[in-house]
Amino acid sequence: MTIRAVLRGVGHYLPERVVENAEFEAWVDTSDAWIQSRSGIERRHFAADGEKTSDLATKAAQAALENAKLDASEIDAIIVATSTPDNTFPSVATMVQGALGANSGFAFDVQAVCAGFVFAMANANALIVSGQAERVLVIGAETFSRIMNWDDRTTCVLFGDGAGAVLLEAQEGKGTSEDAGILATDLNSDGRYRDLLYVDGGVSSTQTTGVLVMQGKEVFRHAVEKLARTAHTALDKAGLNAGDVNWIVPHQANFRIIKATAQKMNLPMDQVVVTVQDHGNTSAASIPLALSVASEEGKIKPGDVLVMEAIGGGLAWGSVVLRV
Ligand code: ACO
Repeated sequence: MTIRAVLRGVGHYLPERVVENAEFEAWVDTSDAWIQSRSGIERRHFAADGEKTSDLATKAAQAALENAKLDASEIDAIIVATSTPDNTFPSVATMVQGALGANSGFAFDVQAVCAGFVFAMANANALIVSGQAERVLVIGAETFSRIMNWDDRTTCVLFGDGAGAVLLEAQEGKGTSEDAGILATDLNSDGRYRDLLYVDGGVSSTQTTGVLVMQGKEVFRHAVEKLARTAHTALDKAGLNAGDVNWIVPHQANFRIIKATAQKMNLPMDQVVVTVQDHGNTSAASIPLALSVASEEGKIKPGDVLVMEAIGGGLAWGSVVLRV
């Protein structure tokens, strides 16, 4: 008997305020045409004043619980992937736990920037297969609008706010690639590249929050090279190949990166979930948001094999192979 971490529910939340590309033209030298052609982004959501990452995360978690037809009291663990927590501490996950009224079990945050959701899923999988938890809420939630340099046109047009959540549950499998649930994960990081993408403030350095700084072209180059490789590695570990994949659910940073990765995997774009046009880059929230939207649209069917892949600051990158 093999214990698998099986997908039982999904949900998401997007803040009400939608910001179209054209709005940026009022204060930086940019255009809707440039943003769309270089990134694929058309609009993004921004959190309202006072609306915090934990608020977004809680709403996404409630949607996932409702989708799973479970009560918060039936959850053993909550993991939130975020780089934009409400406070330095406590964790956003404990705030969500309190807001949900899930008063038992444990909760903690994972920080791997845009790869955070993949890292959180790998953690949740390890907790479930080792018998330390039976039901884990895995949430990606971000308010990147709080760490933008609004004078930097090369970054401020790219990011958005939002949250997505999945509910993973321990179920028995046969130990084959036909099982439902997480079949393999692949995690990587390389701290030599820390200067390619970082926030220029923090608790023990400047005692300020700081703003995002990115060498976009360099990150792009690494993304195209590393994403297809990690996806193949995870598929190998799962005993599958690209031909077995029904859907790629990629990190939504740039349409051109998403397309190049699909091409490297020899998969057509109609097998790729794309939401970057409506959400922008929501960092750790982007994969669960895309997954939840695709589920709502009825695209994802029981038995489908999904590959989730992401790269972000660190650099940190990885993949999850999951059968629905
Ligand atoms: N509007 C108009 N012009 C712009 C803008 C803008 N918003 N931003 C940059 N430009 C200009 C540049 O100044 C440059 O002008 P120049 O040639 O006169 O110097 C020109 O457009 C081309 O700029 P590039 O940076 O070469 O544009 P590129 O095609 O590389 O696209 C982008 C930039 C969209 C940032 C791309 O490099 C990218 O998506 N990189 C990867 C980002 C990513 O994947 N991040 C993932 C993780 S995010 C995380 O972990 C938090």
